Amino acid sequence: MPITSTAPADDGRSGEPHLFARIAGDIRAQGYSINPLALPPELVLPLAEYVQAMDPASFSRAGTGRQQDHMLNDFVRRDEICWINGDSGAGAAWLGWAERLRCFLNRELLLGLFSFESHFAHYGPGDFYRRHLDAFRGEANRMLSLVAYLNPHWQSGEGGELVLYRDDEDTDGIKVLPAMGSLVAFLSEEFPHEVLAAERDRYSVAGWFRLNTSMGGRIDPPR
Ligand code: OGA
Ligand code: MN
Repeated sequence: MPITSTAPADDGRSGEPHLFARIAGDIRAQGYSINPLALPPELVLPLAEYVQAMDPASFSRAGTGRQQDHMLNDFVRRDEICWINGDSGAGAAWLGWAERLRCFLNRELLLGLFSFESHFAHYGPGDFYRRHLDAFRGEANRMLSLVAYLNPHWQSGEGGELVLYRDDEDTDGIKVLPAMGSLVAFLSEEFPHEVLAAERDRYSVAGWFRLNTSMGGRIDPPR
C-alpha cells in the first residue's frame, strides 16, 4: 500500500485565526494594526503576479473625493487605481479573505461592518499620496481601512513607505515598508496617513469596510 498523506494541502489559511485575532486586538487597543509580512504567500503572490501583468489601460488616475480640480488632485495624489470586482481568481481570493475578516471583526468588536470595497494601486517612481484621512469625520461611511503590499524584496532606502500618524498632532508617524505580504489596518476617520515617493514601481491593495448608512429608501452608494 502506498503511503499517502491525508493532511489537507495548506491553502494559507492555517495562520488566519491568529492574524485575525491580532488585528482585532490591536484595533480594540489602539485603533490600528501593523502586521509586517503577515499575509500568506498563497494569497499575495497571485495578487502580485496579477497586478504586474495587468494592462496599464485598466488603471485610471485616482481622485480625491472632495475636489474635482485636477491640478489640486495632482498635488495630493499621483497613483493609479483599478477596482477589484472578483473576476480574477486572485481578486476573488482577496475579497474572500476580506469577507472572513469582516465577519471575524463584527463578532469580536461588534463593529457592524457591512460591505467592502477595494482597489489595486500603482505608484510609479516619484508618485506619492499626501497626508490624508480615508473618511470624513461624521459621515460614518468608511469605517476601517486595509492596505496590503505586493512588492517583492522591498529594501528600506527605496522609499515608498506608508506613514501612519497616531492623531492630527503627530508629525513623526510610524513608517511601514510596502513589502510583500505586509498588512496595515486602521480606523478610517481617526488616522491621517501618507505615502512617500519611491524610486521604483510600488503596488498595493487598499480596501475599506463600510457601515450600512442606507436610510429612508436612499441607498448608500458603494463608493
Ligand atoms: C489610500 C492609501 C496607502 C498605501 O489608497 O487611501 O492611503 O500605502 N493607500 O498604498
Ligand atoms: Mn488612504
